[in-house]
Amino acid sequence: MRPLLWIASALAVARAEDGLDGWLRYARLRDCHTGGQLDDFATSIVALNATEGAPLHTAAHELQVGIQGILGLELDVSDSVTDKDTSSIIVATAQAYEDEFGSLPEAVDLIEDGFYLSNKGDDTVIIGSNERGALYGAFEYLSMLAQGNFDEVAYSTNPDAPIRWANQWDNLWDNGTHGPVERGYGGVSIFYDGVGHVREDLSRVPMLGRLLASIRVNGIVINNVNADPTILSERNWDGVEEIANLFRPWGVRIGMSLNFASPQTFGGLDSFDPLDDQVIDWWQGISDEMYERVPDFAGYLVKANSEGQPGPLTYNRTLADGANMFAKTIAPHGGIVMFRAFVYNHLADWTDWHADRANAAVEFFAELDGQFDDNVVVQIKYGPIDFQVREPVSPLFSTLRETAMAIELQVTQEYLGQQCHLVYLPPLWQTILDFDLRVDGQESRTRDVLNGNVFGKKLGGYTAVTNVGMDPTWLGSHLSMSNLYAFGRLAWDPTLDSGAILDDWTRLTFGLGRSVRETIRAMSLESWPAYENYTGNLGIQTLTDILYTHYGPNPASQDNNGWGQWTRADGDSIGMDRTVRNGTGNAGQYQPEVAARYEETETTPDDLMLWFHHVPYTFELHSGKTVIQHFYDAHYAGAETAATFPKRWETLRGRVDDERFEHELYRLTYQAGHSLVWRDAINEFYRNLSGIPDVHDRVRHHPWRIEAEDMTLDGYVPVDVEPAETASQYRAVVTNGTGTAATTLDFPDGTYNLAVNYYDVVGGNATYSVALDGKTVGTWQGDAEFRLGKFPSEFLDGHSAIRVTFEGVPIRRGDELVVTGVADGSEQAPLDYVSVLPLGVVD
Ligand SMILES: *[C@@H]1O[C@H](CO)[C@@H](O)[C@H](O)[C@H]1NC(C)=O
Ligand SMILES: *[C@@H]1O[C@H](CO)[C@@H](O)[C@H](O)[C@H]1NC(C)=O
Ligand SMILES: *[C@@H]1O[C@H](CO)[C@@H](O)[C@H](O)[C@H]1NC(C)=O
Ligand SMILES: *[C@@H]1O[C@H](CO)[C@@H](O)[C@H](O)[C@H]1NC(C)=O
Ligand SMILES: *[C@@H]1O[C@H](CO)[C@@H](O)[C@H](O)[C@H]1NC(C)=O
Ligand SMILES: *[C@@H]1O[C@H](CO)[C@@H](O)[C@H](O)[C@H]1NC(C)=O
Ligand SMILES: *[C@@H]1O[C@H](CO)[C@@H](O)[C@H](O)[C@H]1NC(C)=O
Ligand SMILES: *[C@@H]1O[C@H](CO)[C@@H](O)[C@H](O)[C@H]1NC(C)=O
Repeated sequence: MRPLLWIASALAVARAEDGLDGWLRYARLRDCHTGGQLDDFATSIVALNATEGAPLHTAAHELQVGIQGILGLELDVSDSVTDKDTSSIIVATAQAYEDEFGSLPEAVDLIEDGFYLSNKGDDTVIIGSNERGALYGAFEYLSMLAQGNFDEVAYSTNPDAPIRWANQWDNLWDNGTHGPVERGYGGVSIFYDGVGHVREDLSRVPMLGRLLASIRVNGIVINNVNADPTILSERNWDGVEEIANLFRPWGVRIGMSLNFASPQTFGGLDSFDPLDDQVIDWWQGISDEMYERVPDFAGYLVKANSEGQPGPLTYNRTLADGANMFAKTIAPHGGIVMFRAFVYNHLADWTDWHADRANAAVEFFAELDGQFDDNVVVQIKYGPIDFQVREPVSPLFSTLRETAMAIELQVTQEYLGQQCHLVYLPPLWQTILDFDLRVDGQESRTRDVLNGNVFGKKLGGYTAVTNVGMDPTWLGSHLSMSNLYAFGRLAWDPTLDSGAILDDWTRLTFGLGRSVRETIRAMSLESWPAYENYTGNLGIQTLTDILYTHYGPNPASQDNNGWGQWTRADGDSIGMDRTVRNGTGNAGQYQPEVAARYEETETTPDDLMLWFHHVPYTFELHSGKTVIQHFYDAHYAGAETAATFPKRWETLRGRVDDERFEHELYRLTYQAGHSLVWRDAINEFYRNLSGIPDVHDRVRHHPWRIEAEDMTLDGYVPVDVEPAETASQYRAVVTNGTGTAATTLDFPDGTYNLAVNYYDVVGGNATYSVALDGKTVGTWQGDAEFRLGKFPSEFLDGHSAIRVTFEGVPIRRGDELVVTGVADGSEQAPLDYVSVLPLGVVD
């Protein structure tokens, strides 16, 4: 026997709970959870045929580190079974296992990346179809142990689809408007230095590889789809190779986004025509060099002729010509091309009732079906528009019968609160994955298109825009990591239950306490419905500002521009007419049974009513409510749900470590306040537009509110806010130096929660204080951009609007309330209003 020497890893040993290890903390189980299991636990790990730097080697090491962390047991690792009597954890590929033992256990039934796990007494066997599968099996076993699960098991599990990729939208340059990671809210890039190069310090890369491997993600595209050709510069080749080397031990292969015009803009050719021999040779040279350096390179990702990106249409070539050009250069090496279906005209004519961006994907791609090479996969966003809070499934999934397809999900919450709002996404994803597309009148769920069953394709699967960054939490918020975790789990098995996935994640991330698990589960499962309630309802889209940061409310930004996210809201009616009969015909892009359902309001579900139909605000939904009253009610209900989040999280004080507890408390408190900004902005916008009052008289009726502009001002001056509905009564006050806003309170004596709504813009940290009869109640700073870790806004608007609350304040009639603001830089200590709220009132 030749014991292998393993370098002790610092990875899992006592680190502050900063989030870096995500769900792979390997926290020590308490005795009550191990319950005698340790007495006859395996005494060694046997890794058959492990080679340094390969996933099987990683698996053995991870088992060693994990078991040491979780159970406190030091296990040796060896590379052969010497004494059949000692108990061990055997980890191997099927081939190596068979070579050693002559045959495989009966239940071994594996396809690529699959694994078999058997755990009986002190014998554990992990067999991968390949080394990657063996690593997945090791992570599965560790996940069981970490959750205190010592059950006897013996099963094989296989991926539902071969493609399970992360997409990172990392930029090489951090000098544009999009920041270091486009739509990234977790800090700067882990790959690039922001001035055009791969970073020197790539220490986060293997850590990400480890997280991805544990959720069985087997590929990652390492640069933005809006691709910068300089990734192909001489210096960056070495960096790209290094990134691939760092991911390889984790079984994660890299892919790269390409800029279609590179041969011209970067290579110095006079063309980028995909049928030009010089262009083809140029790309062949790139692909050959790539495989020379990265022999297991996964493939390319291409965004062409979309949102201003160059593409084959420039030369009157088809999108298939473009995709196939790349595909041919990497087919001999086994690579694939992920070609994005996100092609549309962003300069569409909004005055044309029949124009529709939602039609674009089918219009561009349907006629190309059958023309793509076998190693091209069309990568399709889940809905026809763009990662909105509610969309129907993209009809392209039931249109392309001869083309491999993958879905594009978004872990980074671009239109869903940007990690400043808790929004657990799997329930949204499952509305798409579970949807029955009725291809040829047969049951055909989207997930069965992706795994190839519906159209008999071998390739296909799942991608997600992840956009982790250098923040220790990876995504900007600890709780957002459940979305990344769930993405991998669902890509492996899309039939899993969203709540069950969350339970696993919570145990691994925060420990086995029941109240922690139940609280996080309940909040998370309510979070997407709540977010939909307080943003855009009934399929009207998120209603965020689509022309600026995609974050706060700005319903008017949807319409009257070429981007095609129209709501067609006027004084009487709202919604896109996507019927075949009278509208854009989009409903007709679905298979006949689905098309018939979406054609009529009678059979369209309420939550997509305004996606498919233009109706009066007084239109009666299946629920019995009118459209406008649904808007009002949903917004009040959603904000009320969000208001419970900080209170529920508060019950976990002491049960979650302080570091992560405080981090999330800040965010959930912020969310509760921002959900009111959303509620009031959307309700006011449609109240004004429709002229129809809320039957419950809440909209425009805020009895506990005092407008800043109505107070006695000194140093503060009133300003109009744009969009108007993002300020209470449309106005706020600002100061260049020090301002005070004073008022005499006229509320019955009692205890109140005192809330102040203000704006926190970038460009300074204004300071504020609020006092009652000369006694300071509280002070705060306009520094949310540092604490939320995202660029809010330079303006007073729905992105920068924010609330601070002081709880349990004793107030007497006649008290003098004074808010003092001191401007800093371009932040003019803006104030919107003060709310003096009886306990329990949310307003
Ligand atoms: C053993 O490992 C080597 C190097 O990784 C590999 O080429 C070989 O196929 C492996 N053998 C078995 C039986 O898995
Ligand atoms: C900014 O980024 C672009 C690439 O997007 C690069 O060409 C340019 O040199 C950069 N400018 C500065 C001042 O760093
Ligand atoms: C593409 O076709 C259009 C009309 O069919 C023509 O006007 C244009 O010159 C062509 N462009 C190129 C680059 O061949
Ligand atoms: C039909 O389309 C026209 C625009 O062409 C629109 O004004 C009208 O409201 C639509 N009718 C119905 C019943 O939706
Ligand atoms: C969303 O709004 C609906 C309609 O008002 C309400 O029934 C439901 O409870 C709300 N859900 C959440 C989670 O806020
Ligand atoms: C209210 O609606 C009218 C159109 O009916 C519009 O002209 C006006 O700008 C709106 N006011 C605000 C503050 O949004
Ligand atoms: C702040 O200063 C600017 C430039 O001097 C001036 O235009 C603006 O009116 C001032 N605003 C306030 C609120 O005093
Ligand atoms: C603003 O506050 C943040 C932290 O709250 C701090 O990191 C930053 O340096 C401050 N900026 C200025 C200009 O004071």
